[in-house]
Amino acid sequence: MGFTYKNSRLHCDDVDLQVVADEYGTPAYVYSEKILKRNADVLKSCFIDRGFKVSYAMKANSNPKILALFKSYGMGVDIVSAGEYQMAKHVGFQGSDINFAGVGKTAGELKLALEDDIDHFNVESLFELEHLEAQAAIMGVQANVLLRLNPDIDPQTHPHISTGLKKNKFGMSAEMVTHLLTHASDYPHVNFEGLHCHIGSQILNPQPFLDLIDYLSKYTDELSGMGVDLTHLDLGGGFGVNYENPFEDILETTPYLETFAESAHKKLGNFQLHIQPGRVLVANSAVLLSRVLGVKENGDHYFVVVDGATTDLIRPALYNAYHEITSYREQDNFTVGDVVGPVCESSDALAKQRELPQYESGDLLTVASAGAYASSMGSTYNMRPRSPEVLIKSDGSIDLIKRRQTFAEMISLY
Ligand SMILES: Cc1ncc(COP(=O)(O)O)c(C=O)c1O
Repeated sequence: MGFTYKNSRLHCDDVDLQVVADEYGTPAYVYSEKILKRNADVLKSCFIDRGFKVSYAMKANSNPKILALFKSYGMGVDIVSAGEYQMAKHVGFQGSDINFAGVGKTAGELKLALEDDIDHFNVESLFELEHLEAQAAIMGVQANVLLRLNPDIDPQTHPHISTGLKKNKFGMSAEMVTHLLTHASDYPHVNFEGLHCHIGSQILNPQPFLDLIDYLSKYTDELSGMGVDLTHLDLGGGFGVNYENPFEDILETTPYLETFAESAHKKLGNFQLHIQPGRVLVANSAVLLSRVLGVKENGDHYFVVVDGATTDLIRPALYNAYHEITSYREQDNFTVGDVVGPVCESSDALAKQRELPQYESGDLLTVASAGAYASSMGSTYNMRPRSPEVLIKSDGSIDLIKRRQTFAEMISLY
């Protein structure tokens, strides 16, 4: 299953990637439906079957075909903007399947979500709570709220994707949350249902999650002692994947899912539990298929220039993230070098200082783990059209789930 060599040529399931490149051009994201389903099956058996509500964080990848697939497993969605809300509705999610997170929601976004009676808002600040109360009062409705608590737990991940420390902009301190919950009557149009914590992303070590469970268990006991009884806890997303060995099964790349689910269920099972995973469901389901434009040497530095770029996958430039490079033709590695795109920025590199074969113009290669925070973070910088997304279906057929953007579409905005 997934991305493997057959006859020394890289395939996605049974489809030769050369066939995809010939048909749809490069760069292109290629997804394995089998991997997407396997990941969804695992989350279903670990979490949904234990009574958790799983809301897929669609910021990781908002392709409607992928959203529809996760919907069919009984997942809801975690959204952060009016655009994501509209996409969720387009796919057929009900208001009751949607929770609205994010550190800054506009008045228009609050109104839109209240009109649809979404499941709940994850509220991140006093100002947001006041805006929500005011908007709900105008509309004469009640808003269900989980307050986002910043538990000051170090997720032991890249500083740019840590969110649960006091120095991060997300959530509120326990003092603030306690104050709001003990003054709930000041917000008559808000139902304070519970707490939300999302401590960071790409967390590989289970300990921060286990610390979070202990923290919430103690904190909710304290709140109970003050007469505040909550019903819902959202433990966020952040489950990390293995970018170094991206073609392994989800239970090898993220082995602690079962332990986490079991521990949360044991210690916090009296609450309706929620999670909002993004990356773990999609990251390793796709590659960015790119063509080598040529190779060059500057002094003793070897560069492979490909047609894929930071505009397709910004994570290496943004976080110095590692993405595995795999050649289409199975071959040995010869030279240490960088794989770079054509964009006019020195940071436009997809991989640095890797063992690479002697590529020739026209060769194909893939950049792995391109299913999460890749297409959804894409841009048209340098007037590059957004790249297509191709789904290799479980039955072996090929589905173009997003076509390449055209120049006419880009110019139409001007
Ligand atoms: C509030 C919230 N929930 C869920 C997620 C999804 O995280 P991940 O893709 O690491 O699972 C994020 C990611 O930024 C987030 O900010």
